Amino acid sequence: MPLSLNFSRVHELPPDELAVYRRLDPARLPRHVAIIMDGNGRWAGKRRLKRFLGHQQGAESVQYVVETASRIGLPWLTLYAFSLENNLKRPKAEVTFLMRLLRTYLTNNVQRMNDNNVRIQYIGRTHELEDDVRERMDWAAEATRHNTGTVLTLALNYGARSELLDAFKSLHAEINRNDLRLEDVTEQDIQRHLYTAHMPDPDLLIRTSGEMRISNYLLWQIAYAEIFVTERLWPDFRGIHMLEAIEDYQRRERRYGGLSDGTESDDIASLPANQTTLVP
Ligand code: FPP
Repeated sequence: MPLSLNFSRVHELPPDELAVYRRLDPARLPRHVAIIMDGNGRWAGKRRLKRFLGHQQGAESVQYVVETASRIGLPWLTLYAFSLENNLKRPKAEVTFLMRLLRTYLTNNVQRMNDNNVRIQYIGRTHELEDDVRERMDWAAEATRHNTGTVLTLALNYGARSELLDAFKSLHAEINRNDLRLEDVTEQDIQRHLYTAHMPDPDLLIRTSGEMRISNYLLWQIAYAEIFVTERLWPDFRGIHMLEAIEDYQRRERRYGGLSDGTESDDIASLPANQTTLVP
């Protein structure tokens, strides 16, 4: 758990973002925002550009959003940067480009992360990525290790079903070592074996470019997340749009399967026990 920021950097927000921030209740900011960054290809297509230019522009958006997150003191920001399905199903040239872009992004942005007190980490089957990419990733994680502000988590070669599979396998190994009995397994035990074991669940999930899909992202962790979908394509997404999503989130009532405060319960005792038909 990162230490909370001990000084406010809200005054560093540009005026348009500050105006939205002032409409927020700082006491009810989400702890964890997760984003499905979608629409890079469409952004490029609309401009008759090659897809890779959309990804390049998308990498710019990442740093803007990270900077805003750090300025408002958001503890956790998790970005879906590269899925297992992207790795398996996209043309080799695009995968190679995305990996090169990631390396360049890390090289060029570690200084800014340090200036913004941001710590970077990763979730996913990252051991399957090329050595040169993993080396850069480890370098960036090490270089930002001591930062105590926003934790930026990049989901890389990530899929939620494979995360659950990996979790069940390591839970099984724990049971085999006689460290835990199958009949005693709880939801918390499964949670302990996820890549995100040390993180709170996302409060808010944002998806850009209008698709109403979860795309195998954090399936376990988003059980109670509020979902915000915007038509805006990821390369056009900036910190102000994340703040607007947070504003929308703050208008919602989170009930976690319960009732709203003040909702009166039915008086069960006054109901006839055998009345199960609808009253016309
Ligand atoms: C979806 O666009 C996005 C991705 C495949 C990956 C996200 C990658 C980035 C934002 C750039 C690099 C990120 C970092 C952290 C350096 P799409 O190609 O699926 O868009 P489309 O649905 O419009 O085709």
